[in-house]
Amino acid sequence: MSTGELRIEGLRVAIPGREILRGISLTVRTGEVHAVMGPIGSGKSTLAHVLMGRSGYEILGGTVTLDGIDLLSLPTWQRARAGLFLAMQQPIEVPGVSLARTLAASRPEIPAGEIGAGEKASRVRVRLRSEANRIGFDARFLERSLNMDLSGGERKRNETLQMGVLRPRFAILDEIDSGLDVDALEAVGRRVEEATTEWDLGVLAITHFRRLLDVLRPDVVHVLSDGRIVATGERELAELVDRTGYAEYA
Ligand SMILES: Nc1ncnc2c1ncn2[C@@H]1O[C@H](COP(=O)(O)OP(=O)(O)OP(=O)(O)O)[C@@H](O)[C@H]1O
Ligand SMILES: [Mg+2]
Repeated sequence: MSTGELRIEGLRVAIPGREILRGISLTVRTGEVHAVMGPIGSGKSTLAHVLMGRSGYEILGGTVTLDGIDLLSLPTWQRARAGLFLAMQQPIEVPGVSLARTLAASRPEIPAGEIGAGEKASRVRVRLRSEANRIGFDARFLERSLNMDLSGGERKRNETLQMGVLRPRFAILDEIDSGLDVDALEAVGRRVEEATTEWDLGVLAITHFRRLLDVLRPDVVHVLSDGRIVATGERELAELVDRTGYAEYA
């Protein structure tokens, strides 16, 4: 697998009347895990949304590239095609469309050479069941409408499952641990961690809690406060934040 990078440089983003991100720079390389921690409302989800191309934000400056490709000029689906994946903090419900159909239509990377569409669809289903198994996600959810009437924790498992099937180059995980019980947290964290060696997944994991990071073992930890990265360090930084909070970064 070739090495690559998701590079964010000087990113400044506003919503009408207010600048939310005030110059974010960080680079995630393939196979690396970067954690982003920070107080409520500091701009973590805004960063995730802007990277994936959600509308309603004004880019005031800066660049985002994936393996040198300018992401900010692309629509969301092309960012996904370039290898970016977002597990949303609050996954949306999509009535009438099943997870299995969504993923079959999403063109996951399957290194199979010359295979037909039918063969590919059946391989997607095999991968889907295997991924569901790995994180203890009941197969009955696969044919149900996407996220409809799922509990918070089930939605997070659902997002993890999609990542496993699609095999993106870089995954942004926005509080993938929220709503998970300890066993599910362990399973989800382990799945993501294994992906970093299985296909060299690069991860940007937004979280409030050290517990996920004990499983994910980030290479780099960033603290985001009021739209700026105010500290960057190794795993000890997550332990420090866990013990002492954010007061010193305010
Ligand atoms: N579309 C929007 N319209 C108005 N305000 C917004 C919008 N998007 C974000 N904000 C505001 O921008 C700030 C940053 O929000 P964001 O969701 O990025 O925070 P966060 O760091 O993810 O917080 P949390 O830890 O609670 O998830 C908040 O004050 C939020 O209310
Ligand atoms: Mg958020």
